[in-house]
Amino acid sequence: MIRVNPELTDEQLLRLFDKGTLGQWTPDAIDWGDADRISSEKRHAVAQILTPVYLGEQTAMYGISAVLPDMLNHGFHEEALYLSSMGLDEGRHFRNLHQLYRIFQEEPASRHRIPEMFRYHARLLSHKDSTEWIWGILISDLFAKHFYGGLHDRFPDTLIGRLARRTLQDEARHQAFSERYLEKRIPTMTSDHKMQLLSLRNDLFRVMEAIGQRLKDSMLTLAWEPSDFLEELFADTERWVNRLNISQ
Ligand SMILES: [Fe+2]
Ligand SMILES: [Fe+2]
Repeated sequence: MIRVNPELTDEQLLRLFDKGTLGQWTPDAIDWGDADRISSEKRHAVAQILTPVYLGEQTAMYGISAVLPDMLNHGFHEEALYLSSMGLDEGRHFRNLHQLYRIFQEEPASRHRIPEMFRYHARLLSHKDSTEWIWGILISDLFAKHFYGGLHDRFPDTLIGRLARRTLQDEARHQAFSERYLEKRIPTMTSDHKMQLLSLRNDLFRVMEAIGQRLKDSMLTLAWEPSDFLEELFADTERWVNRLNISQ
């Protein structure tokens, strides 16, 4: 329930919210001026592989707005506060990618070319449970971390590298939030419920594998092997499964 004057006692989440507030930035923070240093072939490849990420930023906006009322109804006021700042971050990521497409004069891949990216979106939306939502959002944030990290390594001194670096700072805060939320909730969950988190992970990875195949040619243009990307991401997710004791 919404309360006029709730207790706010989780200092860790409150500090994270303040960090998120101080960490806000606008597209003016990026020098967008050197797109022509990247070959048109590579710009096209980047535009293709960014497509699921571009949709993912919108999925994140949607997810946050879906989960926020549930947080308030459970009296998780610090969580609701933090998620409000996270929504702004995801809105900014979406806006930045929108701008990048305009600057590149490229279009995202069509939904017919990568139908699975909507399946990913639908799988995340298929339940109302907040813990599953936050777990799904964490996996998506880990995806973003590896994806923007890989883009940064390939284009360090260009607008892509600069955009990736700034975006990664936001994503690091999102992971810290998910960690805090999940470490509080997971110990209270039944083992059946925890199994549902693992089944969500498996479903999302199956979808990502299919997306990787669709985008393989564009990824290889950037010397990026989809299976390497997914293996690294899976290993990272596995570290979180162990850290949060999800499989016990
Ligand atoms: Fe994002
Ligand atoms: Fe995020």
